[in-house]
Amino acid sequence: MSHEPFDDDGVVNTSHEPAIADIIEARLSRRAILKGVATAGAFGLFGGTVSGARSVTAGKDYAALAFSEIGRFSDDTHHVAPGYNVQVLIRWGDPIRRGGPQFRPGAQTAEEQEQQFGMNNDYIAYMPLPRGSGSSTRGLLCANHEYTIPRLMWPRASGSGATMTRERVEIEMSAHGLSVLEIARTAGGWRLAGGSPYNRRISARGAVMGVAGPAAGHTRMRTNADPSGVRIIGTFNNCAGGVTPWGTVLSAEENIQFYFSGKGAPGPEEAARRRYGIAGRGFYEAWARHFERFDLGKEPNEPNRFGWIVEVDPYDPKSVPVKRTALGRFKHECATTALSHDGRVAVYSGDDERMEYVYKFVTRGRYDPKNPDANRNLLDEGTLYVAKFLEQGRMRWRPLVFGEGPLTAANGFTSQADVVIEARRAADLLGATPMDRPEDVEAHPVTGRVYVVMTSNARRKPGEVNVANPRAPNRYGHIIEIVPPLVGGIPDHTATECDWGFFLLGGDPANPEHGARYRNPVTANGWLCAPDNVAFDPRGRIWIATDGQDYVAGFADSVYAAETSGPRHGATRCFFAAPRGAEICGPEFTPDGKTLFLAIQHPGDEKGSTYDKPSTRWPDFREGVPPRPSVVAITRADGGEIGN
Ligand code: FEO
Ligand code: CA
Ligand code: CA
Repeated sequence: MSHEPFDDDGVVNTSHEPAIADIIEARLSRRAILKGVATAGAFGLFGGTVSGARSVTAGKDYAALAFSEIGRFSDDTHHVAPGYNVQVLIRWGDPIRRGGPQFRPGAQTAEEQEQQFGMNNDYIAYMPLPRGSGSSTRGLLCANHEYTIPRLMWPRASGSGATMTRERVEIEMSAHGLSVLEIARTAGGWRLAGGSPYNRRISARGAVMGVAGPAAGHTRMRTNADPSGVRIIGTFNNCAGGVTPWGTVLSAEENIQFYFSGKGAPGPEEAARRRYGIAGRGFYEAWARHFERFDLGKEPNEPNRFGWIVEVDPYDPKSVPVKRTALGRFKHECATTALSHDGRVAVYSGDDERMEYVYKFVTRGRYDPKNPDANRNLLDEGTLYVAKFLEQGRMRWRPLVFGEGPLTAANGFTSQADVVIEARRAADLLGATPMDRPEDVEAHPVTGRVYVVMTSNARRKPGEVNVANPRAPNRYGHIIEIVPPLVGGIPDHTATECDWGFFLLGGDPANPEHGARYRNPVTANGWLCAPDNVAFDPRGRIWIATDGQDYVAGFADSVYAAETSGPRHGATRCFFAAPRGAEICGPEFTPDGKTLFLAIQHPGDEKGSTYDKPSTRWPDFREGVPPRPSVVAITRADGGEIGN
C-alpha cells in the first residue's frame, strides 16, 4: 500500500546511524588495504564491486527480451504490450465458491465477504496442482488482501467516525487476510474452480492462527482472550510474501500500526510500541471502538501479536496458519526464500518504512525434499540477521542473537523473545543501515543475486545519506543487487559478508536533477520510479512493478522488464500500465513462463475519488459498482512465453 494516507506515516526510527563521513573513512581505510582499487565518488563502482572478486554484471543467464514497449498512460483502464491479452481473473467481492454470495456493492455483509475474494490484493503466489507437479495449467492462486478503503466501499465513509459501525468494521476484517483458490487454464482462458475443496478465505475476523518460535507463549504475547500467548485471531495488512521450497506460502504482516488506538500505560511496553509507530489513534480507529483487543488501554500486548510472517499450507484446506516469530517482528514487506548451497534456507524481508532495515533469516536445519515432516518447522530455529552496508561493494549481515553484542539485559533484552518482538530496536543497536523504504527483496533463481528494492524516501535529508542510500531526498527509489559468495558454484545465502552494487537508481536519466542511473540506456518510456515488487521469469529476467509513479511522475504505475545480464542488462522497458489510482503487486509467473499474474491494487484510489464518484470504475465500468481490486492473467495471443 502506498497511497493516502498510507504513504506518509512518518519516520519512527530516531536511532543514530554513522554519518556519510564515518562511512567514507571506513571505506578509505579499506581502500588502503585493497591498494589501487579505484573508488571515485559514490557511484564510482556503480555495477561493480570493491573486492574485485567478481563483477555483479557477470553471468550466463542472458536471454533477450522481445516485446514492443508501451507508452505512458494515465487513464481509467489498463494497457499491455501489443500481442498480449489481459484477462480479469477474480475481483474483490467475487464468490470463491460456486453458488456463493454475489457482490452487492455498498450492501455486503461480513458473512458474505467471508465467502468472497477480499479487497486490495497484494502478493500472489501460483502453486501448481497436484503439489510438486510443476503444472502451468492447474494450480492454487494464493492472494494477500492487504487493507480496506472505506471511502471506496461505502458512500461518505472514512476509516473512523460514526459511519464506521461494528458491522462495517467486521466487513473490513473479513476483506483482509488471504484467499486460496484453485484455478485452471482452459481454451477460453483462466477459470476459477468454484467447486474445489482447496478454496478458502483466511481473514482478520475469525481465522485462528498458531504461534511458533522464540516468542510463542511469552508473557508479552499474552492477552485476556489468550492467556497462553499461542493462539491469535486473524492476520491483517498482509502485504507481499513468498513461497517455501516445501510448498507453503509466507504472508507478511506489514502496516500493523493502523489498527491499534487508545492509550496504554506508560512504561517499557509503550516505548517498544512507539518504535513501531503504534501510539494514539490508528487510521482504523473504529476497530478499537468496537473490539477491545485493538484498544491499547485494554490489551497492551495485542500489537505484539502482529507484524510477523505467517506460514500457510494452501494444499491442506484445514491447516492452521502459524506465525513464525523467529523471523522477527517489524513491518514485513515480504518473505522470499532462497535455498542455499548446503540445504539451509534463507528468508529475505524488508521493513517497509523510511529509515528502516533489510533482514534475512537463515534456518539452522536443512531442507529435505524427501522428508516433508522434517521441513514443517524449519522456520522456528535459525538466525535472524540485519543488513549493514559497509562501503561501496561490501556489506555484512549482523546477527540478532540474544546475549551477543549489545543484545543483553543491559539494553532491556532478557531472551530471544524480546529480541524478535523488538527486532527494530535490536537492529538499531547493531548499527544496521537505514534504508529508503525497503519493499521486495528477492533472490535471482539462477545467479542467487539478491535484489533489494527501495521504493523511495522523500524525507531523507542531505546529512542522512549513506553508502546504500545516496540520494536525499530519494523521490524515485532504487534497487540494490547483493551478490552472495559461491560455494562450488552455488550461491551461499548463509554468508554474512557479501558484495553489492546498484542495479538501478530510478528516475529519468535525461533529467540531471533526478540523479538516475541505469546500467544500460533506457528509452523515454522505459525509465521507472517507485519500484516495489519484483519477480523473475523462467529465463531469469526481472519484472518490476511500481507503486507511486502517479504521484511522483504523473503517469500510471506500471510493470517493467529488464535482462539481468548480457549487453542490455538493467535497461528497463515498460510492459503494462495500471488503471489510474492503482498500484501493481505480486508479479507471478507460471512455471512455463506463459502466464503472468498481476494484482491490481486500489484502482481509483486518488484524492477526491469516492464510492459515489470514483476516478475509475475499473474493471466493471458499470454505474453503481465501485472500482474493484482484481487479479489479472496476462498471456501471449499466440500462446508463447511472456517477454520473448
Ligand atoms: Fe504494502 Fe510496502 O507495501
Ligand atoms: Ca508500496
Ligand atoms: Ca508493497
